[in-house]
Amino acid sequence: MSVLRVAAIQTSPVFGDVSGNLERALALIPAGCDLAVLPELFATGYQFRDTAEAMSLAEETAPGRTGGPIIAALTRFAAESGCTLAAGLAERAGDRVFNSAVLVRPDGSRGLYRKVHLFADEKLVFTPGDLGFPVFKACGTTVGLMICFDWIFPEAARSLALAGASILLHPSNLLLPWCPEAMITRCQENRVFAVTSNRIGSENRTGTRLDFIGMSEVVSPLGRLLVRLGKEEEGAAVTDIDLAEIKQQVTPRNHIFGDRRPDQYRL
Ligand code: ACM
Repeated sequence: MSVLRVAAIQTSPVFGDVSGNLERALALIPAGCDLAVLPELFATGYQFRDTAEAMSLAEETAPGRTGGPIIAALTRFAAESGCTLAAGLAERAGDRVFNSAVLVRPDGSRGLYRKVHLFADEKLVFTPGDLGFPVFKACGTTVGLMICFDWIFPEAARSLALAGASILLHPSNLLLPWCPEAMITRCQENRVFAVTSNRIGSENRTGTRLDFIGMSEVVSPLGRLLVRLGKEEEGAAVTDIDLAEIKQQVTPRNHIFGDRRPDQYRL
């Protein structure tokens, strides 16, 4: 399938109201989408006070684990709608909690990514990801997962693109203002689509007020901003993407990967 209908879902979660947040987020996904991305930690809220609190709302999502209410709702929605989902959630693995994202296919199978680059006070709560940047087959193509602050490390998007991803699925809870524009460059320099899904609203559970910036968007491999939401609205940024665009190169003499010179780089 060369053309896919994708959606970046922009939510306004209430901290700790898992069932309400799930219901409101899934209701925002329009019928007929092939692929929808929900924000980072979309069902729990973002600002955990400590690891114990995150643990209390976390689910076991590693292969073979059955998960909890969030995985159950995502799995049911994907099966009923035929839409593949990517979504962020707190993941319990023994005595560790990861800031993770799952890919949930309509057949119930899943992929898992654990956030590699933790942002600010997330370092007090979560264990840094240990699965690298895996890619997954979905919707007839290859997709990769990255989470929010991973955007500022070009290595994240590059790793996924070099592994064959054609679409970056990017659940986020953005706070810094630069990501929506930066993703345009990430897409151009890697010849990938990106679906960045953010939240709106504020949290202040620790004495540090966090204001989330919205602006969920879908960007094409040529750096075209296909759709972007505002800073204060809940909703869905929906667009059709043509995977054929990935094949277009910078010039007839330049291939974005073929022209790389790893022997000249010190990384
Ligand atoms: C972030 O990584 N949630 C800012």
